[in-house]
Amino acid sequence: MKKVICLQSISRIFSLLFLSMYLSFSAVMAQEAAADDVQKGKQLFNQNCAACHALNRKMTGPALAGVVGKYDGDKEWLYAWIKNSQSLIKSGDARALAIYNEFNQTQMTAFPLLSNSDIDAILAYTDAPEPAPAAPAAMASAETAAPATSGVSNELILGALVVVFGLLLMMLVFVRRILTKIAVANGIYTEEKKTEIPSFWKYFSNNPFLIFVTVIFLLLFSAYQVYGYLSQIGVDQGYAPIQPIHFSHKIHAGDNKIECTYCHSSARSSKHSGVPSLNICMNCHKSIYEYKGNPEGPTPEDLAEGYTNEFYTGEIKKLYQAVGWDENTQSYTGNAKPVEWVRIHKLPDFAYFNHAQHVTVAGVACQTCHGPVEEMEIAYQYSPLTMGWCIDCHRATEVDVKGNEYYASIHKALSEKYGVEKLTAAQMGGLECGKCHY
Ligand code: HEC
Ligand code: HEC
Ligand code: HEC
Ligand code: HEC
Ligand code: HEC
Ligand code: HEC
Repeated sequence: MKKVICLQSISRIFSLLFLSMYLSFSAVMAQEAAADDVQKGKQLFNQNCAACHALNRKMTGPALAGVVGKYDGDKEWLYAWIKNSQSLIKSGDARALAIYNEFNQTQMTAFPLLSNSDIDAILAYTDAPEPAPAAPAAMASAETAAPATSGVSNELILGALVVVFGLLLMMLVFVRRILTKIAVANGIYTEEKKTEIPSFWKYFSNNPFLIFVTVIFLLLFSAYQVYGYLSQIGVDQGYAPIQPIHFSHKIHAGDNKIECTYCHSSARSSKHSGVPSLNICMNCHKSIYEYKGNPEGPTPEDLAEGYTNEFYTGEIKKLYQAVGWDENTQSYTGNAKPVEWVRIHKLPDFAYFNHAQHVTVAGVACQTCHGPVEEMEIAYQYSPLTMGWCIDCHRATEVDVKGNEYYASIHKALSEKYGVEKLTAAQMGGLECGKCHY
């Protein structure tokens, strides 16, 4: 009898342990939700505001870091301003007029489609403490470039792992103890079974199998949660940094239909796609010295975004400065300073990705992974670039093995093995860890 009571109290300790584990998890999750907000805000900011605003630098518009504080947390005013600054200005609002005049009455784009919660996320981003500045990697030398730092510090990941492993260790110790106790208690169990009214906890604590299953379930569940948490880290979908020269893919690849591989020539043949060297730009820009693309003048949307013919021509002059091209003498001065393109896509170093494999061998279009680049005024990361994203596509994509030299020998063997004519990238080995991880 005594031992049964002892067992009951152990099972209570056990459940308390689970409870505390859940609580600590929900704390982590809550933190993650806040981080999510900032992450979403960053994305919205890059998509909508980055053309005119930076956090800590004056551009077309004011620096936005700490702007909530500037307006004493008056969110309603900020909602009104961001959704339609012009109507606020016309209403004669003093604060609106002040900032409007400070910026020489430059019009800010109206964003009627942003919801209050979108704006909250953007403002959370402008309020977030700045991460350590990431050194922009020089794209021209992508191989040697410093890896871009991802937004979340390694300490945080380590901390989370330590907590989880600590909990697992504690649980292991408890499970061991309880199992030992149960083994001892089992003798009593058979004696008292018929007289005791079966209570849930007693049933539970007297049933090693049930405990075992519960523990396994909770372990899997927490592993899943941690996995979900970690897989959010470093996902930079939507990342659209300001480049040193405003380079429009819309104008080059869209309006002027220049082939992607004219500039990104190594995508066809090597691991890296790379960004073109400035010499390639000069193939065309020795003669294209100004932007005439829009003879009727800029559209209202262009103007709202700050893009005029003069602006674009000014960007071409930046290119001349960078390569050291003197327009008057039509010669190079020798005063070149390479453009440091900010790298947008970056897998972690432990993942292996090869462009040629996908573009040339598998025949996947650039747009499948990079989105409608030819419509992008400012290039951004379209796909999440997570492991799940790679794997999902490998499961779904049938490889066109017929008439493709690369597969000639293995196709027969594999299609016999799977008993199908068509093979997915997964069946070709696209799920093997070693193919993507060194
Ligand atoms: C076309 C350029 C442009 C875009 C795009 C733009 N802004 Fe602005 N913004 C400005 C300018 C210019 C001002 C200064 C006031 C003025 O001249 O209207 C400003 C002012 C502001 C202010 C007031 C800042 C202060 O210090 O008082 C806020 C807040 C603001 N913008 C938020 C945003 C947000 C959020 C977005 C994206 C959803 C955005 N802006 C997009 C140009 C822009
Ligand atoms: C005229 C040259 C040119 C053409 C044509 C061109 N690009 Fe680019 N691309 C660049 C330059 C320069 C950059 C770096 C600046 C930037 O990110 O906007 C770049 C950047 C990119 C990036 C982001 C690289 C990173 O930092 O991760 C992708 C993806 C990309 N291009 C895809 C394409 C695709 C797809 C096409 C065809 C639809 C294309 N490009 C056509 C010159 C070009
Ligand atoms: C195959 C020819 C070609 C190449 C290569 C090329 N451009 Fe252009 N570029 C053009 C054309 C065409 C225009 C639009 C001119 C017009 O409409 O008047 C343009 C416009 C521009 C503009 C103004 C519009 C904008 O995108 O901001 C810039 C800046 C520019 N190019 C930079 C570059 C840079 C940097 C490179 C090298 C990475 C490059 N170009 C490579 C043909 C080219
Ligand atoms: C199967 C998906 C996929 C396809 C198809 C694809 N890319 Fe990429 N691209 C990626 C990934 C993933 C990265 C990040 C690679 C890294 O960080 O190592 C990337 C990076 C880039 C970069 C940045 C520089 C670099 O090489 O890391 C450029 C530029 C680029 N791609 C252009 C292209 C062009 C142009 C095409 C079409 C000819 C293309 N990509 C086709 C997935 C793809
Ligand atoms: C748009 C679909 C798509 C996406 C997204 C994609 N892949 Fe692939 N991948 C393919 C196809 C199709 C093949 C061709 C199968 C083959 O060659 O065996 C392939 C092949 C590969 C191979 C060679 C496999 C082998 O058997 O030799 C590797 C490695 C690979 N992909 C890595 C990646 C990584 C890493 C990512 C994510 C960053 C990724 N892929 C994203 C479609 C995709
Ligand atoms: C098709 C390519 C591909 C295959 C196959 C693959 N991985 Fe990954 N894996 C990736 C990429 C890409 C990342 C980076 C994801 C990111 O940065 O979010 C990654 C990240 C990871 C991470 C870090 C955690 C995370 O989610 O970011 C672990 C752990 C991992 N992989 C383990 C494995 C194991 C184990 C296997 C075999 C069962 C495997 N991977 C197979 C592409 C692959």
